[in-house]
Amino acid sequence: MKVFLTIDEIRTASRRVRRAGDSVGLVPTMGALHEGHLSLVRAARASTDCVVTSIFVNPTQFGPHEDLAKYPRSLERDCDMLEREGVDFVFAPSVEEMYPEGAVTWVAVEGLSGKLDGRSRPGHFRGVTTVVAKLFLVVEADRAFFGQKDAAQVAVIRRMVRDLKFGVEIVVCPIVREADGLAMSSRNAYLSTEERKRALVLRRSLMRVQELVCAGERDAARLIAAAKGQFAREAEVRLDYFEIVHPETLDPVQDIGQGALVAVAAYAGTTRLIDNILLGQAGD
Ligand code: PAJ
Repeated sequence: MKVFLTIDEIRTASRRVRRAGDSVGLVPTMGALHEGHLSLVRAARASTDCVVTSIFVNPTQFGPHEDLAKYPRSLERDCDMLEREGVDFVFAPSVEEMYPEGAVTWVAVEGLSGKLDGRSRPGHFRGVTTVVAKLFLVVEADRAFFGQKDAAQVAVIRRMVRDLKFGVEIVVCPIVREADGLAMSSRNAYLSTEERKRALVLRRSLMRVQELVCAGERDAARLIAAAKGQFAREAEVRLDYFEIVHPETLDPVQDIGQGALVAVAAYAGTTRLIDNILLGQAGD
């Protein structure tokens, strides 16, 4: 496994692979890797010849009062994990490498970027699409792998790829969970034992919706009310949003109809957690 710190190096290496006729799979991450990330790496390993994993804590997707400074960083451990998974290239650039001094160019998916997490985290998705666009331009991968865990991110990136005609295929992998159902996240490391237990309300609220849907309920407002009832019983966890939306437009739906994305975000202490389920489709 080779670790590259500069754009020139990874670009040259990736081009060489593609010129030899081999396919390149890209797994963008911010590091502090867990089984969720590794599931993407394994999917990439299974379907592309050369797997590139990027590790970059992207400052532009963090708000001014968010956790950029304390975001967990563990490059050495991450590289050990990736080597064991048979990753070919790791791209771990510095902030200066990704954002040359004076950079003022952004990629923004208007509208969609202001929904779900984008509403609570202004500017977040602009940071995500800008860095992911740069990674796509630099690595020129055939396929890029993302987790359903970040459902709004998936919708925004798919839209960017469509609008900007990137020649990369987006592959979305199911949510990987802890044994008790909590969605894996690098941010789970922030949780105290007590918060960790309380955080299960996110999963419970989604399961409640799933149960009601199985029993025949289709009305989004009633489903949301039932889910919010779960949060009412867990007063220490502050709900940010609980929404039932179209998975591509992220607009609220009234009836779950052919399928819908049920998405939740909440704070356990100061830690913001997200989770979701897809109704009426294969997925999580
Ligand atoms: P990060 O939070 O490190 O996540 C990297 C990828 O792993 C994302 O596609 C995310 O959806 C996926 N992932 C995280 N937890 C998962 C889980 N429990 N199950 C399945 N997949 C999971 O998302 C980002 O980084 C950044 O926004 C990034 C795309 C790298 C741009 O900076």
